[in-house]
Amino acid sequence: MQSNSSDETISIGREIGASLGAPVLILLTGELGAGKTTLTKGIASGAGAAQEEEITSPTFTLIHKYTDGAKPAKRPAVYHIDLYRIESRPDLETLGLDDIFNERVIVIVEWPERLILPTNWPMVQIKLEHVAEDVRKITIRED
Ligand SMILES: Nc1ncnc2c1ncn2[C@@H]1O[C@H](COP(=O)(O)OP(=O)(O)O)[C@@H](O)[C@H]1O
Ligand SMILES: [Mg+2]
Repeated sequence: MQSNSSDETISIGREIGASLGAPVLILLTGELGAGKTTLTKGIASGAGAAQEEEITSPTFTLIHKYTDGAKPAKRPAVYHIDLYRIESRPDLETLGLDDIFNERVIVIVEWPERLILPTNWPMVQIKLEHVAEDVRKITIRED
């Protein structure tokens, strides 16, 4: 499909997020500026874990966690992981990924090709391509 603005990408993300069960792993591929973080704002808000303006890029921290704040939680937590700055294959325990994959959550990963992810969870692969200034091609594949 095609998105003609970042707002449209956020709404596409919201629809995806609203339809997700957990656990699920969402892999976002595409160059810098393709819209991976923008799409994540929609996915996490559609999944009920955060308002889109609360969602920022975890470029330096690598991982952000969002929850609906209800006790007990009504919606699954969303982890947003950005592996862009990973230079060497990191120790999984350092990142805490093995713990995350023991929870029933939604995990969204930017630059997933940088790491072999330790899970056989259902996966949604989303490719974002820069077509023109405000235009992105979005391809979704579920396995
Ligand atoms: N259709 C679109 N979809 C997503 N982002 C867009 C679109 N058009 C313009 N943009 C802009 O492109 C940039 C995408 O940035 P970001 O989501 O951080 O990308 P990435 O995480 O892939 O590096 C933002 O500045 C956003 O406003
Ligand atoms: Mg990003």
